[in-house]
Amino acid sequence: MSSYIIKGGKRLNGEVKISGSKNASLPIIAASILNGSKTKLYNIPDIHDTQITLKILKYIGCRVKKTSEKIEIDSRYITKKEIPEHLMREMRSTVILAGALIGRFKEATFSYPGGCDIGARPIDLHLKAFKKLGINIEEEYGLIRCKCDKITGTNIDLDFPSVGATENIILASVLAQGKTTITNAAKEPEIVDLVQMLKKMGAKISGEGTAQIEIEGVQKLKEVSYRVMPDRIEAGTFLCAAAITGGKVKLINAIPEHIVPVISKLEEAGCKIKTDENSIEIEAAKRLKAVEIKTMPYPGFPTDMQSIIGAVLVTAKGTSIITENIFENRFKYLSELNRMGAKYKQEGSVAIITGVKKLLGAKVKSTDLRGGASMILAGLAARGETQVENIEYVLRGYENIDKKLSKLGAEIKLKEGD
Ligand code: UD1
Repeated sequence: MSSYIIKGGKRLNGEVKISGSKNASLPIIAASILNGSKTKLYNIPDIHDTQITLKILKYIGCRVKKTSEKIEIDSRYITKKEIPEHLMREMRSTVILAGALIGRFKEATFSYPGGCDIGARPIDLHLKAFKKLGINIEEEYGLIRCKCDKITGTNIDLDFPSVGATENIILASVLAQGKTTITNAAKEPEIVDLVQMLKKMGAKISGEGTAQIEIEGVQKLKEVSYRVMPDRIEAGTFLCAAAITGGKVKLINAIPEHIVPVISKLEEAGCKIKTDENSIEIEAAKRLKAVEIKTMPYPGFPTDMQSIIGAVLVTAKGTSIITENIFENRFKYLSELNRMGAKYKQEGSVAIITGVKKLLGAKVKSTDLRGGASMILAGLAARGETQVENIEYVLRGYENIDKKLSKLGAEIKLKEGD
C-alpha cells in the first residue's frame, strides 16, 4: 500500500483545473454498451474506478481506445453478458453495468458489488426495480442472474431516491417496450448528465433532475460523442483544501450550481467565495467558525463531502455538529483525525466536533475514498509531517490529487508501497 507524505502549514494559492466527474463517468461508460455502436467520451478522469469499468467493457468484448483527450468505445462485438466477480468486487458501481447489459441483451450475470467501507451498501432497490420491469432474477452461490424475453415499461416508486438504482432503471429501460416512470427518483447532477448523454444517443427521457423521470422506450440508439460534467466532489475538496489552509484558490471547470450547499457552509464558516458560470474562487479566513451540517440527497449537502468538510471543522473555532443521514458508517475518518489531535464525540449518526487550534502531523490510514481525502486535507493544515497510508482508496476517485495540490503550493509526496 502506498502513502502520501505531507509537510503541513503551507497556505494554498493559485488555480486548479477540476477533472471530469467520476460518478457521472461510470454510468456514462456503462451506457456505451446500449447503442451497439461507437461512443466517444471526453473529460473522463483517469482514475482507478474508470480504469476498472473500461477493463470490464474490454472483458465483455467492447473495443476500447484511450488517448489523453478521449475514450472511444465500440460496443458492436460484445460476446459476454457476465461481469467477472474479481472485478465486480473492486468497486460497487460496477452494478451499473448490469442495467446496461440487461437493457441491450435482456440478460446479465453479476455478483454482489464491492466498494468503500462506509456502511452496508445493499442493492435491493436495484433488484426490486429489475423485477418490476419483468426481469427474472435468480441468485445462486452469490451470483445474480438476470434474464427476460422483453422489458416492459412500468411505474417504479423508489423507497429511497437511490442514485445507483435510478441510473440502473434508466439504463435498463431506454430500450424497453413502452413507458417507464420512476417516482422518488434521485435528482443528482450525475443523473442529469447520464440522461443528456442517452438523449444524444436517441433515448426519449424527460424529468431528469426532478423526482419523476419518464423513459419512453425506443427501438434503437445511435453513435454518440459526449463530454462528461466536471467533478463536483473534487471541486468541493479543493475548496475545503483552500479553507483548511487559510488559502486563496480559483477552481477552473467547476459548476457552482452543483455544490450550492458546500459553498453556503464554507461562507457561513467565514470564507469569501466568488462564482462564475464555470469557476469558483475562494479566499479563506485564517481561522474558520464552526457550522452545522446535515447530509441529504441532492440538492442537500452531499454525503461525499461530509468527511472532507469534517476535516475543515476539526480546526474551526467552536463546536460543529454533523449529522450523516445517507451512510451509517461514514465517521471512521474522525478516529484517524483524532491521532492528529482532533476532538470529537460520536453518537450514532451524529458527530460533535470541538475545533482545535492546530492539528499535529501523524501516521494515519485512509478508511475509504473520501475519508482518505479528509486526512490529506488535515495533513495540509497540520504542524509537522503527516503520512496518509492506504492511499489506493484515494486514487480510486481523484485524478492527480498530489500534483494538483503541489501546484497550489502544498508539500506532498507519494511514497510507493510494495
Ligand atoms: C452514489 C455515489 C456515491 C454517493 C451516493 C449518495 C456513485 C458511483 N456513487 O452511490 O459517491 O455517496 O450516491 O449520494 O455514483 N440503498 C439501499 N438499497 C439499494 C441502494 C441504496 O438501501 O438498493 C441505500 C444505501 O445503503 C444508502 C442510500 O440508499 O444508505 C443511498 O445510496 P445510493 O444513492 O444508492 O448510493 P450509490 O448509488 O451507491
